Amino acid sequence: MTEPLKLDLMSPEMRDDPYPTYARLRQEAPVFRHPMGFVAVSRHADVQHVLRTPELFSSQAMGGGETRTDRDGNPLPGAGSLIAQDPPVHTEQRRIISRGFTPRMIARLEDKIERLTAELLDGASDKDELDVIADLAVPLPVTVIAELLGLDPARRDDFKRWADTMVIGSTGGRRRRSEQDRKNVAEFRDHILAHIEVRRQDPGDDLVSVLIHAEEEEGILSADQVFAFATLLLIAGAETTTNLIGNAVLAADKNPEAFAEVRRDPARVRDFVEETLRWDSPVQLVNRMATEDVELHGETIAAGSFVMAMLGAANRDPDRFDEPNRFDLDRDSSAHLAFGFGAHYCLGASLARLEATTALTRLWEQLPDLSVIHERVERQPSFLVRGPRTLPVRAA
Ligand code: HEM
Repeated sequence: MTEPLKLDLMSPEMRDDPYPTYARLRQEAPVFRHPMGFVAVSRHADVQHVLRTPELFSSQAMGGGETRTDRDGNPLPGAGSLIAQDPPVHTEQRRIISRGFTPRMIARLEDKIERLTAELLDGASDKDELDVIADLAVPLPVTVIAELLGLDPARRDDFKRWADTMVIGSTGGRRRRSEQDRKNVAEFRDHILAHIEVRRQDPGDDLVSVLIHAEEEEGILSADQVFAFATLLLIAGAETTTNLIGNAVLAADKNPEAFAEVRRDPARVRDFVEETLRWDSPVQLVNRMATEDVELHGETIAAGSFVMAMLGAANRDPDRFDEPNRFDLDRDSSAHLAFGFGAHYCLGASLARLEATTALTRLWEQLPDLSVIHERVERQPSFLVRGPRTLPVRAA
């Protein structure tokens, strides 16, 4: 007899392999009511519906609105920032912020990403083994975000330390903030605010300059909002990309045929990255809040309910992808929802693709016969983001 369907997000089984549970959710309870009160929506069509209907499913659930601050008065991640807003405020902020993510701005980072990747791999090349996460997948996106913001490259190590702190607590199952963490947040804030002042006098071509220019011209973003946005970038853009790189290395290990194809033709790393996004999504779910009573599959989702849109489950929906559990380099995976859908579609999607493609191309070029040291792989203790926390590999 099959067990009754449960959704224990924190269980080790879900952390190791959530996909069998997702299959049951899609099939048996597409609108699943959790005893804790939230609702989980798992079919591709329903997740898409939730994400493209902000008037029924508000993004307020992604943050705390304008007023939430921590004990020291710093805006909390999400507060006053893009990801937790609904139209029309969101539409206006996004119009400004997307000026920092034009194809031209991203293309300008291309050489830096190449150089940084080479530097990181060089640094690890004289070791017998390397940890793909600590040596490559963590420092790369964090440093790229510092570049994007135009911060002083000499403060790279400080930035990394601040970034570690900012990410704590943003995903499930993290430790509580310590006194040192609070100091790090304050330092990060001072650094960003000082950088804003410098750029006010001497504009550059970085994202902070774009944002304060918008503030001066159109009075839309305050310095605090720029700081909140820098924080959002770290949370939205660093760990997610780390997980994508880690998940791709694990996918290569589990799918030797697809990996052999990539080794024959490195131009296919792009397709490998795209199929990894679908097959093992770095962000497993996003939250929304029902603004009124909503009917779905004969169930009423009550106004005020938290709704989890399960991206990881939607990306394995057999109604959308043939043989969804198969890692298939040749499929068209472009309908995946790993970067969300609709108004909040990930602003950093092309940057993340570029970083992951560069990192993996160079890693696999340098270590074509790498083998994963399985006994020492650990997973992130989180149900929101999915990926390895440590991923040691040997050269052969
Ligand atoms: C593999 C890497 C990444 C994944 C899987 C990912 C995933 C997502 C998802 C699912 C959303 C939608 C959230 C929602 O609908 O509530 C989102 C939004 C966002 N992402 Fe990403 N992201 C990644 C990398 C990045 C990078 C590198 C950046 C920037 C440096 C970035 C910046 C953002 C921003 C600013 C938003 C908010 C957009 C809005 O609210 O309009 N992301 N991301």
